[in-house]
Amino acid sequence: MASLTVRKLDEALKASLRLRAAQNGRSVEDEVRMILREAAERPAAASVPRAPETKAATRSTRTHAAADRPRLTLIIGGGIAAYKALDLIRRLKDRGIHVRCVMTRAAQQFVTPLTAGALADERCYTDLFDAQSEFDAGHIRLARDTDLIVVAPATADLMAKMAQGHADDLATAILLATNRPVLLAPAMNPLMWINAATRRNVAQLARDGAHFIGPNSGEMAEANEAGVGRMSEPLEIAAAADALLRPPPARSLSGKRILITAGPTHEPIDPVRYIANRSSGKQGFAIAASAAAAGADVTLISGPVDLDDPAGVHVIHVESARDMLAQVEAALPADIAIFAAAVADWRVANAGEQKIKKTSGGMPQLALVENPDILATVSKLRQNRPALVIGFAAETENLIENATSKLKRKGCDWIVANDVSPSTGIMGGDRNTVHVLTLDNGNVAVDSWPVMTKEDVAEALVAKIAATRA
Ligand code: C5P
Repeated sequence: MASLTVRKLDEALKASLRLRAAQNGRSVEDEVRMILREAAERPAAASVPRAPETKAATRSTRTHAAADRPRLTLIIGGGIAAYKALDLIRRLKDRGIHVRCVMTRAAQQFVTPLTAGALADERCYTDLFDAQSEFDAGHIRLARDTDLIVVAPATADLMAKMAQGHADDLATAILLATNRPVLLAPAMNPLMWINAATRRNVAQLARDGAHFIGPNSGEMAEANEAGVGRMSEPLEIAAAADALLRPPPARSLSGKRILITAGPTHEPIDPVRYIANRSSGKQGFAIAASAAAAGADVTLISGPVDLDDPAGVHVIHVESARDMLAQVEAALPADIAIFAAAVADWRVANAGEQKIKKTSGGMPQLALVENPDILATVSKLRQNRPALVIGFAAETENLIENATSKLKRKGCDWIVANDVSPSTGIMGGDRNTVHVLTLDNGNVAVDSWPVMTKEDVAEALVAKIAATRA
């Protein structure tokens, strides 16, 4: 295979390669590989009819998203918990974070650079002096070309080296050369964790500005051992990293009272059976959390969900649509109301007081009656109508058309429309693709957002509300 030396390229080309690589979150070496791969594939691809590109899959969208993503360097230390670092890569990527991995020599006894590289979509760096790489990444660039460094697992040895300022391998050299925040997820045997030397090192690293997550207490890999020393779970580490990566939200909704509905409703058939739907409540809960983080006084009225109450939010749990309406009315007045709940349109008219028995006399006949429409009721209030009323439209066909007619029919100000066809995985999933329809003097404007996590949709919605209210 021909090899290529980057030093033979002219300076302008090298600069543009570096820029492209940085924008795409890749090393220069990987960027060149990508360009060569695309160029090599082009003639063959030309003879094959191309499938129409969806918006989410277009090159410009991907490039833009990659450039916008926060960048994180994950240093994987040599401990049994290294296997959890592989899951951590996925969890970080789920949050839209670009991950670049570095492994110590000891870590490679537990997991391979190939696996980490495949999960991160970028080669995993292992050597301080990388003779194989003609496009030397350099520990200084690895130390700076990132927004956060996470060390997971942070072993006792790695922390001791950090506390002493050693730099005898790539991981420690990066940690010494960086001016970015560092998050450590310690993992070790409980006796090592409480050892006076580790205590001194941890205290020194905290004084030096390192952030810590964990360790948790629990069972150790060693048989019959338990105590404090288990590495925090990947989800916990990803959340802590995310919190460090994203600047604290502006308190843009401070002083505003916001009422939010979320989740499904359960409509009883009898005391043990009910009619429900697949809503998870995740989007409404994420909006409540974002609004609270933006300083709003938030009341969340939720149908039955399997989610923890968001911090700093007043949560009222209800079962049926009628309970939900009663609690919404009791929670008014509010400045803003967001109806994200998937309220059941119908309830059973003759819900049994006792469990309906299976008899030989045939099937029970369930007569349905319409539930109150909470969104329409609040939108049409003469008194106490919130200044901004936002509804949701979950559709499986003719999304914008149906959402537009819903916007006008229900009398709200905005509709957040999303396609919940089973193929989208939105219902119950972690991502959402929404279109925000706003009504201004009878004209409907559509703002279409790319696929995002439900947390990002929530933040964007809160930002849009704050901008409108300003
Ligand atoms: O079910 P539908 O598509 O009409 O829901 C659109 C909007 O209306 C959503 O915001 C939902 O929360 C709200 N809604 C409601 N009460 C109902 C039905 C729907 O508040 N009974």
